[in-house]
Amino acid sequence: MQIFGVDIGGSGIKGAPVDLDRGDLAQERCKVLTPHPATPDGVADGVRQVVDHFGWTGPVGLTFPGVVTGGATVRTAANVDKSWIDTDARALFSDRLGGLPVTVVNDADAAGVAEMEFGAGRGRRGTVILLTFGTGIGSAVFVDGALLPNTELGHLELNGHDAERRASSKAKEDHDLSWEQWAHRVQKYLAHVEMLFSPELFIIGGGVSRKAQKFLHLIEDIQAEIVPAQLQNNAGIVGAAMRAAQHA
Ligand code: BGC
Repeated sequence: MQIFGVDIGGSGIKGAPVDLDRGDLAQERCKVLTPHPATPDGVADGVRQVVDHFGWTGPVGLTFPGVVTGGATVRTAANVDKSWIDTDARALFSDRLGGLPVTVVNDADAAGVAEMEFGAGRGRRGTVILLTFGTGIGSAVFVDGALLPNTELGHLELNGHDAERRASSKAKEDHDLSWEQWAHRVQKYLAHVEMLFSPELFIIGGGVSRKAQKFLHLIEDIQAEIVPAQLQNNAGIVGAAMRAAQHA
């Protein structure tokens, strides 16, 4: 079965039909730039361009970089335009897509769902936490494979700051941190999350997971196993489609 997946990120809106049996894109993905400011209207236009590129007419799953309840309503918008808060994103996107059935989920939850089924978390029981390091820090918490949605662990407090302002990959760029300096911050962050949840496994996702060999070996004193995500760039698209299939 195929469902269309769209990943809405800070820089790009990317999507493709997803082959749910293989957990992979069925066609090469299409990407348009995220408008700035990333308002609901502007983003919805970008989503329409991506979906129209394939002439898609079936169900669509979308990720959003904030809390999303009931597959529909956006509750927070840390790194996108604040006018998203309390928007019925399902209605907005469905309307812009000519009435196609739509499901909206948190971006890290989507990536986590895909990694648990097809990637680094496959077959893993107990507590597994996927953390995505990008513009912000996203989190997806699983117990015996079941997702606890919208955990928002990127906003834990670390040294008196919002953790994602200290340890996201954007923080690495903004403060011109070396891999060593940044890994030190990530380690402190992981230690804090470990103190709260004692997971068996951390999966490190986001764009930076492609560069895992540059920093994972610098992270010490964490009891849990730490592995890079495997689906990398496509985890959000695949996970969004998987969630849409569950809701369909
Ligand atoms: C948001 C999360 C999101 C993460 C990654 C955070 O700022 O609050 O909902 O998952 O960024 O995009």
